[in-house]
Amino acid sequence: RVLAGPREDLAGRHVVVSAGGTREAIDPVRFIGNRSSGLQGYALARTAVARGAEVTLVAANVTLPDPAGAKVVRVESARQLREAVLAAAEHADAVVMAAAVADFRPVRQSDTKIKKSSAEPDPIHLVKNPDILAELGEVRRARREAYATRDAGGAAAAGGRETGDGPGAATQAPGDGPHPRVIVGFAAETDDVLANGRAKLERKGCDLLVVNQVGENLAFGTPDNAAVVLTAEGGSVEISRGPKEDLADVVWDLVVQRLA
Ligand code: CTP
Ligand code: CA
Repeated sequence: RVLAGPREDLAGRHVVVSAGGTREAIDPVRFIGNRSSGLQGYALARTAVARGAEVTLVAANVTLPDPAGAKVVRVESARQLREAVLAAAEHADAVVMAAAVADFRPVRQSDTKIKKSSAEPDPIHLVKNPDILAELGEVRRARREAYATRDAGGAAAAGGRETGDGPGAATQAPGDGPHPRVIVGFAAETDDVLANGRAKLERKGCDLLVVNQVGENLAFGTPDNAAVVLTAEGGSVEISRGPKEDLADVVWDLVVQRLA
């Protein structure tokens, strides 16, 4: 048991955080990966534990020690990350997608190590990975619609929601609202940071999008981060350069506000 910090404002909440970067296998020894260290996601998990939350941390290829008090699920590929996040999200109040998910994976994965020969190598053909953040938003949108339909039909009385047949309705507690109640994305952008971020938030249907500017030793593998958090209502909150814990606490402040 970890002693919670002074703020217990996430007590009784279950939050899911994804962290790290996925790897997409080419053959048994090679993969397509990215530079994500997992530091920001781990800072989010640690601060959520400190604020009293039950935390599920889905970690993709992170070499950091497990944060005390969090349930850690280790995954490698985007498809494994999707399974783990969607399963944990069923009962989550909030999901924060801090992981860098590979957009593409090789169409075929060789069962044996690809050997070098005198000929030029074959090209590696890629296919798109599922967009997990967009899927979370889509699942919740469908659930909201099912709720609204049932409410309109007058069947929302006590217990009505648990027997509904709408998408995911069976897993929802009555009166609890469609889960996850808060969905947070991260975006690393190199140019047109705010415009790209705004379009991305709308496209993915999330509530908050934390937009990082990548480059100049910011973001990847460094202890510090600077960001702007965009909200679904069109607002923005600037977070000046500082420890990833500080950014994490601002994210949880905004999540707590939305859960209230
Ligand atoms: N994300 C996801 N599934 C993917 C790709 C991204 O869930 N297949 C999530 C990331 O975890 C992050 C957010 O979506 O929270 C934004 O990721 P980003 O790579 O910036 O967005 P993309 O839609 O992939 O756009 P692009 O890479 O083209 O900028
Ligand atoms: Ca991407």
